Amino acid sequence: MAHSLKFTSKITTIERHILEEQRFYPEATGDLTYLLYDIALAGKIIASHTNRAGLAEILGQASGEVNIQGEVVQKMDVFADQTMYRLNDHTGRLAVMASEEHEDILPIPDEFPKGKYVLLFDPLDGSSNIDFNVSIGTIFSIFRRKSEGDGPGTLEDCLQPGRDLVAAGYLLYGASTMLVYTTGHGVHGFTLDPSVGEFLLSHPYIQIPAKPKYYSVNQGYERKWSPGVQRFTKYLQGMDGDGKGLPARYVGSLVADFHRNLLSGGIYYYPGEVADGGKLTGKLRLMYEAIPLAFIAEQAGGYASNGWINILDVQPTELHQRVPLFIGNRDLVETAEVYIRKYDEG
Ligand code: AHG
Ligand code: MN
Ligand code: MN
Repeated sequence: MAHSLKFTSKITTIERHILEEQRFYPEATGDLTYLLYDIALAGKIIASHTNRAGLAEILGQASGEVNIQGEVVQKMDVFADQTMYRLNDHTGRLAVMASEEHEDILPIPDEFPKGKYVLLFDPLDGSSNIDFNVSIGTIFSIFRRKSEGDGPGTLEDCLQPGRDLVAAGYLLYGASTMLVYTTGHGVHGFTLDPSVGEFLLSHPYIQIPAKPKYYSVNQGYERKWSPGVQRFTKYLQGMDGDGKGLPARYVGSLVADFHRNLLSGGIYYYPGEVADGGKLTGKLRLMYEAIPLAFIAEQAGGYASNGWINILDVQPTELHQRVPLFIGNRDLVETAEVYIRKYDEG
């Protein structure tokens, strides 16, 4: 007897999902679809490299080809940076790129056509964790170019506010490799099946659970925080007002901390520190970290703030601008804003 071909649920590869999303854009040329697919491919390559990270030196020596400065044993962040660039520099889909690892914008080489999108990325997030086999990731933002024509993209093309994002996402190299992205129609998570090398839809339409589970911050810096942030932390610990009494979790890789809180509910924050002259400066980068994750948080029903205003409304002025970041469940982030407004100077 023939088997029934009726399945109760379909298997959605990332390719199929991205293609199906294209239906939201009847005018789509397919460029964004293929751009996202190229990023997924970069992620697979970086993931397979991270799995062998501790072996690179041994394998390099064994083959006698390369030494510690050579290609094979190159540092993971350099490898991730070059992989993202090289997979996207020749496709004709991008006008320009920018990476956390480079001071200036990354032009598309002269010999290749220029496209209508702009790609910004943090190639390896959590770099201080690389040597310790702790989860790391790649974060990306995609904008439409603002400059006219099909010439090289400009710095202005890169300095767009989060409100203008077309798509954003991250790859997480953890116990399994995941890709999470949004084009403004919900947040979708895919898990890499390493046996077939495909990202399969495992977390459709992610929404941050209403009841938060954790708060995440590097408490080692508490002495440097403003009074508002210190009191807000007491609130989270259940020691101020109608506080929550939440347990803490902090990996030290933003992608991993954000991803856990996205699925469990909670808040991550990296506040500004009171620097010389009393001015507050954050550590995290607006373009490569805060903006893309803010868009994902919002799409998942959450919220991201610099303590005063929505991260998506911050107008960028520099490629490597840093911001304080509070991100996660909307009510917790809004409570942080209330504390900051009440106890801190503007
Ligand atoms: P990157 O590795 O891309 O430079 O980013 C590091 C960031 C972020 O991943 C993490 O949340 C934060 O730095 C950790 O900083 P602390 O060690 O100061 O807590
Ligand atoms: Mn980072
Ligand atoms: Mn980085």
